[in-house]
Amino acid sequence: MSNTPTPPPFFALEGIDGSGKTTQLQHLEAHLVKRGYLVHSTCEPTKNIIGRMIRDIFAGKIIADQHVIAALFCADRLDHIYNETDGLLVQQRTRAIISDRYYLSSLAYHGAHVDMQWVYDSNQPAMNALRPTAHIYIDMDPKVSMERIALSRQETELYENLENLIAVRDAYEKGISMLPEGETVIRINGNQTEEVVKNDIIKAVDHILDKGL
Ligand code: TYD
Repeated sequence: MSNTPTPPPFFALEGIDGSGKTTQLQHLEAHLVKRGYLVHSTCEPTKNIIGRMIRDIFAGKIIADQHVIAALFCADRLDHIYNETDGLLVQQRTRAIISDRYYLSSLAYHGAHVDMQWVYDSNQPAMNALRPTAHIYIDMDPKVSMERIALSRQETELYENLENLIAVRDAYEKGISMLPEGETVIRINGNQTEEVVKNDIIKAVDHILDKGL
C-alpha cells in the first residue's frame, strides 16, 4: 500500500441553468461535513475581479463577443485554481472542495457558441493543473429548468432561454465524451424531486469515497 496521502476529494457540480446545483451543493457540503471533512465550497464565475467582469457581461453592463466570454472564463478559472490566497490548490491541502461549475461548464456553454476544440484546448492549462475527483452532472430537461427559472427569478441571464439551454445540454454530452479516460462523471437524473436527487448524489459520492478513488 502506498504511503502517499490521498488529497481530500474535489467535486465539481454541473448542469444547465435551473438544474438545482446550488441547492444540491449545500446538501453535499452538509454530507461531507458529516463525514468529517473540512469543506471549501466555491463557484464559477468566481467572486474575484475576472468573475465580476463576467457577471457584468451577463447583466448586460458590458458587451462582449462569445470568444471573449469564453477566454474570460478560462482566465477566471486559472485564478480560481492558482490564486495564492484562497485558490483551489491552497484549499486542497486541507479541505474537500465542492465547486458550483468547473471546466465542463466551459465545454458546454461555450462549445454551444464557438468551436468546441478551441474551448477544450484553451482549458487544457486548467485541466492539467487540477482535475476534480468527479464531475457531478445533474442532467435535466431544459423545459423543466426554464419553468424553475421563471418561478424563482424576476430576470433571466444571458444564457437562460430554452433554445440555448437545449444547445448547452447537447454540448454537455459532447464535452463529456471529450474528457480523457480516467475522468469520472457521475450522471444524476435531475428531473426528480430535490430529495431524490440529493440521495442519488450522496450515494454516488459515498461510493467514490468508500472505495478511496
Ligand atoms: P450559475 O451557476 O447559473 O450561477 P448563478 O446561480 O450565480 O447565476 O452560472 C452563471 C452562468 O455562467 C451560467 O449561465 C453558466 C455560465 N458559465 C459559462 O458560460 N461558462 C463557464 O465556464 C462557467 C463556469 C459558467
